[in-house]
Amino acid sequence: MSIQIDADGIRQLFPEVDQIQDQRLRDGVVEIWLEVAAETAWERFEDIPKNLTLEKHMTLTGHIQGVIRMALAMADIAEDLHGIAVDRDLLIASCLLHDISKPLECEADPGGPPGGGSALPAKKTEFGEKIQHGVYGAHKIWEKNLPKATELVHLVITHTRASNTRSASYEASLLFYADWGDSDAGIVMGGGKPFGARWVEG
Ligand SMILES: [Fe+2]
Repeated sequence: MSIQIDADGIRQLFPEVDQIQDQRLRDGVVEIWLEVAAETAWERFEDIPKNLTLEKHMTLTGHIQGVIRMALAMADIAEDLHGIAVDRDLLIASCLLHDISKPLECEADPGGPPGGGSALPAKKTEFGEKIQHGVYGAHKIWEKNLPKATELVHLVITHTRASNTRSASYEASLLFYADWGDSDAGIVMGGGKPFGARWVEG
């Protein structure tokens, strides 16, 4: 099983991909999504839950859309108000790729409990059990030799607390906060305790 989708379909899901100015980076991000479409056991990206617990009602595609828009909104404000420069190509590409491993980390579980939203019930795959979140996105970025690969991998790797490295650029901070901001929206709506309330520096 795999997801039948083409580059236009990826652009419809994530229109901000066309804001990436560097054509090689833009095309590479779309290619990675198409490769994962061919590798996943899901049939539609829109059916995949954001995770299997507190945000299982939220779709992965909705979450990624939220992360992109929150990150760009923060970038706009920081640039306008404080004059800090943000590498938007890097930021948008990282938002689009930070959770690219998730379609492989879980699979449909038709008999599983409903998530309470449009995402389908799911369970972890062996890949999800054994491979640290973020690693596969890094692998894909290096495999494609995308522009600014080291920076882009840094952003993808540091967005998750599963990593033992932390953000070392402003773009990485924006991705990190946008990811938590959107995740907490899902957690609060689901009645859970948000990340902000569980923060432990490390
Ligand atoms: Fe995320």
